[in-house]
Amino acid sequence: MTKEHPQNAETAKKVHIQTFGCQMNEYDTDKMLEVLRHENYSQTNCQDEADLIILNTCSIREKAENKVYSELGRLRELKSANPDLKIGVGGCVAQQEGKAILRRAKNVDFVFGTDNLFELPEMLSKVAEGQKISRTERHARQKVRNFIPDYTFQQAKNFGVKAQIAITKGCNNHCSFCVVPFTRGVEVSREPEHIIAEAQRLVAAGTREICLLGQNVNSYKANGTDFVELLRRLDGLEKLERLRFISPHPKDFHAELADAFVTLPSLCEQMHLPLQSGSDRILRRMRRWYTMETFYEKVALLRDRLPQATLSTDLIVGFPGETEEEFEMTMEAVRNVRFDLIYSFKYSARPGTRAAEYPEHLAENVKSERLKRLLETQEKIVREKNEALTGSLQEVLIEGKHHRKENTATGRTRGYHSVSIKDCKTKAGELLAVRITGANPNSLIGEALSTSPVSG
Ligand code: 5AD
Ligand code: SF4
Repeated sequence: MTKEHPQNAETAKKVHIQTFGCQMNEYDTDKMLEVLRHENYSQTNCQDEADLIILNTCSIREKAENKVYSELGRLRELKSANPDLKIGVGGCVAQQEGKAILRRAKNVDFVFGTDNLFELPEMLSKVAEGQKISRTERHARQKVRNFIPDYTFQQAKNFGVKAQIAITKGCNNHCSFCVVPFTRGVEVSREPEHIIAEAQRLVAAGTREICLLGQNVNSYKANGTDFVELLRRLDGLEKLERLRFISPHPKDFHAELADAFVTLPSLCEQMHLPLQSGSDRILRRMRRWYTMETFYEKVALLRDRLPQATLSTDLIVGFPGETEEEFEMTMEAVRNVRFDLIYSFKYSARPGTRAAEYPEHLAENVKSERLKRLLETQEKIVREKNEALTGSLQEVLIEGKHHRKENTATGRTRGYHSVSIKDCKTKAGELLAVRITGANPNSLIGEALSTSPVSG
């Protein structure tokens, strides 16, 4: 054990964190692990040997929320077998439900909201004294705040080839279906220097690809630095090969950001642009602030500059009042844009949101049937697009060994396609020139063009 590493193997306690939901929750889990590492905890993948179990929860759809209570039910046995085990619930469900979780699940020791994860040490010492804790207070409203303490990235030892950095938290948009503004609060941007310091630590520790995170990244603004300027500054970091971001809002995607894809070498030719629906009436009711016409213009901003850029999106089917014709408009948008990847969801009413109060909620079987048709349409598009990539030359960032196939490495193209490469000796973190030789439904197959990495 080194000096700066607070962990001591003999006395270290073990923590298991189960993460539900989005990339922001994954990022928060990494930060919780970092906070707990400073409290002499080490991570375990096995719940049975844990002294502390934390569920980092998601409430974006009802299904995700229900998982939390079924998981807590399962943990009841573990707690009776080991009364010293402490159980905490964090994340979006915790933010919304607070004390109600303590009442409903007696085996839970503490509940903490999305603004409170850095108070874990203090909460744990109270829990050790036998107290039950619920902490969901919000920080004061501030447009700019360094909501990630520096010490959580000072050593950055445990990070991989790819890493994420939160640049904003919260959201001011209030799309009518979405619970996030309630669970994560108003939008706050981090100071650029703070973000760059985190990126520098990561790159020094071996990270080659950084994905910037936020609910609406392109509305980032802090100390006179806007999103494009932040990208420019990060692009200048030596050894940072690739830069991405999720998620931009179409209403804030403009020509200057599209230009950045051309002028910044590290910014990958790939973007996630959540559409949600192909019908202007539904988009209005969703409070998305764009029409299909303006969405197509945004897509053109990127594709006119970079025809090879890959595009992914989020779509909701069965929004309250969505007619068959309006659903068909979503299908048409998918056929027109030909996204490389879609994340599609059945609408789920979320307490407190405007859409939950709208009339004409659709039956579950209608939503399921529409989702099925959407997925079938998209499957065909992906198959065709993947086949079109066969024979192409791609730069792949090697991430490591394939988890199932022997002697095979995996990595991703700049367009974010996953590629498996047989007989590949290239180390994780290196770039490799790869010829695409075939495609599976969700990934590509390639062969290394040379044993030497791509330069630059
Ligand atoms: N029901 C279904 N999908 C939702 N999303 C957000 N809220 C809901 C909801 N109430 C989807 C949106 C968003 C993604 C992260 O989750 O498509 O972009
Ligand atoms: Fe939710 Fe809309 Fe904000 Fe995205 S932009 S987090 S969908 S409110």
